Amino acid sequence: MPVPPTSGRLQWTDVPTPLRALLEDALGAPVTDAVTPKGGFGHQLAAALHLADGRRAFVKAARDDDPLTAANLHEAAVLGSLPPGAPAPDLLGIHHAADWTAVVIAHLDGPHPDLSPVSADAEQTWALLDKLTSSPAPAPYAAAVSITPSTTVALHGWDELLSDPPADLDPAARDRLPQLAELEATWPALAHGDRIVHGDLRADNMVRDRHLGVTFVDWAHATTGPACIDAASLAPQLILAGHTPTGIAGLLRDHPATASSADTTTAFLAALTGHWHRNARKPAPPGAPGLRAYQHRAAAAGLALLDHRLS
Ligand SMILES: Nc1ncnc2c1ncn2[C@@H]1O[C@H](COP(=O)(O)OP(=O)(O)O)[C@@H](O)[C@H]1O
Ligand SMILES: [Mg+2]
Repeated sequence: MPVPPTSGRLQWTDVPTPLRALLEDALGAPVTDAVTPKGGFGHQLAAALHLADGRRAFVKAARDDDPLTAANLHEAAVLGSLPPGAPAPDLLGIHHAADWTAVVIAHLDGPHPDLSPVSADAEQTWALLDKLTSSPAPAPYAAAVSITPSTTVALHGWDELLSDPPADLDPAARDRLPQLAELEATWPALAHGDRIVHGDLRADNMVRDRHLGVTFVDWAHATTGPACIDAASLAPQLILAGHTPTGIAGLLRDHPATASSADTTTAFLAALTGHWHRNARKPAPPGAPGLRAYQHRAAAAGLALLDHRLS
């Protein structure tokens, strides 16, 4: 799958000297290089630090008045409370200096997974989701995410498109606009549940570590909710990666996380796809040049899946 380009990220040298010194002290070795991976849309520092003794650590950092610091701290609380065996890297530390905050995470070694049909990574990801959602979230995790309201609940878009349909709206969406708006309106009441939800599952938020296999990163949107959210979010990503909508619609019908909650899954997919269709038409936010083009592609993939579920 083509990962959207990154640009505008803060670099290691943008981090104030006191925080860099604090991090080197905590890590126990000088930083000799800081490599910013491709992928993702954020503007904060997100880099693999190479240490003089050969070790690596992953760090995310931003100014304290940047909303991404709150997101990074949420991610740190999540990483510190996931159950053992969850497909996530370990939290190594949180450091504050000079009105900046850095979250240090164990470094994963490998590329983004290949979610295309030629790779086994997609199958492994489905299996991870089955395991992650098969039992309720442990209490420490539920407590960690309860402080931050979930953005997933608030997904919508068809309501606005219905009231003022854009001229370039896909005819398949135009034909179903009232139905799609009605479906997404059912989502907020269905959005609650007790399962672990990563909340932003895409190839660029996963790393295929050479020891651990596919591992989920970027837990900044993690919450609790119905089991179907991550599987239903992954489904359009797999279509973007080359799988057929028919094949993925079949997988969604049968997967343990979605099979028993068809209405919730459809309502979520409608809300997510409406969000993409609406947001893809907005001006690009600063520092995220690939975002709108990605949302256009994702919107089309989501609509193809909805077409299957509603036909
Ligand atoms: N623990 C890690 N080890 C190695 N690489 C990572 C790790 N976490 C994230 N990455 C890589 O860094 C990129 C950006 O990190 P991410 O947590 O997704 O930040 P953002 O919120 O800015 O998208 C990811 O797309 C992934 O390639
Ligand atoms: Mg990311």
